[in-house]
Amino acid sequence: MRISVIGCGYLGAVHAASMAQLGHDVIGLDVDEAKVAKLAVGVAPFHEPGFDDLLRRGVESGRLRFSADPAEIRDAEIHFVAVGTPQMSGRLGADMSYVDQAVTTIIEHADPADGARPALVAGKSTVPVGTAEAIAQRLASSGKRLLLAWNPEFLREGFAIQDTLHPDRIVYGLPDDRADGELAKSILDECYAVPLAEDTPLVVANYPTAELVKVAANSFLATKISFINAMAELCDVTGGDVTRLAEAIGHDDRIGRKFLQAGIGFGGGCLPKDIRAFMARAGELGVDQALTFLREVDTINLRRRDHAVHLAEEAVGGLEGKKIAVLGITFKPDTDDMRDSPALDIAGKLWAAGAELAIVDPAAADKLRDRRPDLNVPDTLEEALEGAHAVMVLTPWREFVELDPAAVLPLVAAPNVIDGRNVLDPQRWNDAGWNYFGMGRGVPTW
Ligand code: UDX
Repeated sequence: MRISVIGCGYLGAVHAASMAQLGHDVIGLDVDEAKVAKLAVGVAPFHEPGFDDLLRRGVESGRLRFSADPAEIRDAEIHFVAVGTPQMSGRLGADMSYVDQAVTTIIEHADPADGARPALVAGKSTVPVGTAEAIAQRLASSGKRLLLAWNPEFLREGFAIQDTLHPDRIVYGLPDDRADGELAKSILDECYAVPLAEDTPLVVANYPTAELVKVAANSFLATKISFINAMAELCDVTGGDVTRLAEAIGHDDRIGRKFLQAGIGFGGGCLPKDIRAFMARAGELGVDQALTFLREVDTINLRRRDHAVHLAEEAVGGLEGKKIAVLGITFKPDTDDMRDSPALDIAGKLWAAGAELAIVDPAAADKLRDRRPDLNVPDTLEEALEGAHAVMVLTPWREFVELDPAAVLPLVAAPNVIDGRNVLDPQRWNDAGWNYFGMGRGVPTW
């Protein structure tokens, strides 16, 4: 099939390359010419395991092209909308201008061949519920033969290729009109045909349900994380160990073990902004009380960052002039993404309190140096640890999780380790002579 993907950020670029991998002829469109220039020659503009290879294979096969010229989407049979919906500055709601612009571009340039079936616009961006209906009306009154389906994407950074090519589920939000719905479904079925859709549960629903599935899933995940972080607060004042608690409640299938890792909380380009946009939308719909719990989820999450700063301050006896080695600055491992990163926020707070920082990160160091030339980002972990009064593990990159506490002890000025992700073994670090501080782990005896 001929496919266009509008918006080549994380979601769009991975989707475009994955569709080419399935054998489709794909054009990725983006307004950012520098990004397009890189993608077009098979160079990934961000760090994502496996993406470089997938991209290179697609570009070399001739099935994957990138362009900033909207005229190139003309004869696509499906137009995937994968642009960002970032949080509006100073407000909770999502900025929908990129989605609006993408739809305008499609209406202006899409031109399904005479006699061919209509082209399908498939929404992938995370949007406030009600957006699809409004877009469908724009398409209907455009005079072009364009149909809309909502087809949310659930990929996680760090697992983006796997999640796109082997998703847990596929969701189609289809038009209410039966004939249009059948046609939209058949076009998506053809696109996702074997092997992607084989054995993958398919949920077919109307537009609002499909839009809500995405924000509901992210809200649930955020709630799970804040729930366990709230339990961490209880553990801190009672001497309990939240990692044992999570293990024990996670054995109950109804609860499950995943997303119960307490620590400095969630960040990234999705969870924080999605729960805020969802609350804003509920307010517009007059049902804000249905989501007031998400306000608490957000508050608990942000409190974790202050707690980590407070722990560091206590450990070193006042932050002014103390050297803190910050291990990890991205919002999670296996990405160079620092959007709403708890680690970056904590580093900023430590710096504002007068600490001397040395930040290391396996993927984002250069990006951080460009963005914050005022911060000290040494080349090696050893340089960061040298003379530190506290070491803070803020992103659980494998090289930090596997650090040998005895080997690095001689480097530091004071043996304080703050485990912001509860990924180190307290016993091992204490036995090696460190003062271990976890997030809700008390002083474990068992
Ligand atoms: C998320 C959703 O998981 C994905 O389905 C959706 O499509 C996009 O948003 P992502 O932003 O890549 O994906 O990150 P995710 O793996 O969900 O982690 C989000 C944040 O939560 C990270 O900062 C992570 O460190 C934190 N987290 C996760 C915890 O603090 N504890 C946990 O138990 C799990």
